[in-house]
Amino acid sequence: MPDADADHGVSGTVARLIDAGIAAGSICWEPAVQMWRVSGYEASRALLTDRCFVSLAPGRELPPGLPPAIEAAARRGIEVQARWMGTRDDAHLRIRAIGAAPLGPRPLTRIEPGFRARAKALLDALVARGEGDLVADFTDAFVREGFLDLMGVPARHRVTADRCRLDVDSYARHTPGSLLRAGMMQAAMIPIFEAMLDAPAPEGAVILKAAQAALADGRIDREEALSLLSVQVVAGISSSQTAVGELVLRLAADSELRAFAAADLGRLDRLVEESVRLGEHHFARPYIALDDVVLSDRTLPAGTLFLLNSYDPNRDPGQFPDPERFDSGRQPQHLTFGAGVRRCIGRHLVHLELVIAAEALIEAFPRLPRACLGLDSSVGAYARAIGLNPAW
Ligand code: HEM
Repeated sequence: MPDADADHGVSGTVARLIDAGIAAGSICWEPAVQMWRVSGYEASRALLTDRCFVSLAPGRELPPGLPPAIEAAARRGIEVQARWMGTRDDAHLRIRAIGAAPLGPRPLTRIEPGFRARAKALLDALVARGEGDLVADFTDAFVREGFLDLMGVPARHRVTADRCRLDVDSYARHTPGSLLRAGMMQAAMIPIFEAMLDAPAPEGAVILKAAQAALADGRIDREEALSLLSVQVVAGISSSQTAVGELVLRLAADSELRAFAAADLGRLDRLVEESVRLGEHHFARPYIALDDVVLSDRTLPAGTLFLLNSYDPNRDPGQFPDPERFDSGRQPQHLTFGAGVRRCIGRHLVHLELVIAAEALIEAFPRLPRACLGLDSSVGAYARAIGLNPAW
């Protein structure tokens, strides 16, 4: 096992993969964004795991002429978020380990019963009402409320937390306006996080408890604890809602797939990851080379930008034969959660949420109101989007 910290230079293997990718067209120069767009699986994986390529932090340019109080608030929010973005920084790995610990497969078994109970209650409520929408009333609420429970966000602050993650989603646009909104919403959360850190954590708030314990024994300082909570509240909801929503819509729309899963619920482990591989929640992020990349006929200097994404490599036919086919039996080593030292710390939680939501849907399906499933519902729209022609 190579020591990730030992050598930060670009390895010969990565340089060769980039060279081969350029020759084969799976790494192309995109003039519009001034970056090399990487679409091959091997090269994407190699770049993600080589510590010489790091994710480019969002810019810090706010719009000019802001009232001082607004500028100060937005800067404070951005600074708290940026603490996490340290690149080769040991601080990042230290904070990351504290965030990841409660989200490993074994610790998650403790939260499983609560998540199962919520999924069932939401579907039972839909059945009792006789109408509703599988995404709005089931999967969105299931993911959002479950995650905010793990965070320990009090009920009266959940609307603010939800707005915060929605505004930070727009961070990705990298415009001064989106940065301003994101910074201000994160600043608005800081006093809420401060109070949460100082009060006893509610039962089940495993993310908050981990932050409090690390703060108490000096593994992180207060700014780092704020950063940890701040990053997680924005990372843990939106993309998981998309992933869980998509899986549930697919299962609701596809009776064969539902029957396949219902015959042996153990099949869900692979099936849900296949849904993640093909899903819409893929990332596209700029990575910057910290060292020169020496190729056979040229050198890409340090500072060269690579646009990585998971959509293309997840459909690389060399890695996934017949890539557009939903194959519930394959073991997809997809890149949806990234790879390497920055790999998503929420991936086990997402897997658990997907399995629980799928099981709950399969169990409740025969009782669900027809209006939630028909052509005129989100299930019908999704079926049309993926080219299914289900017979309801
Ligand atoms: C379908 C849902 C999700 C997707 C697609 C997703 C995807 C990703 C990706 C692509 C990365 C960057 C990996 C890299 O740069 O190599 C990432 C990082 C991260 N994710 Fe997720 N994620 C999801 C859910 C979650 C959840 C539920 C959490 C809950 C805590 C979470 C927390 C994080 C954090 C904190 C990082 C930063 C890791 C670091 O910088 O070390 N994510 N995620």
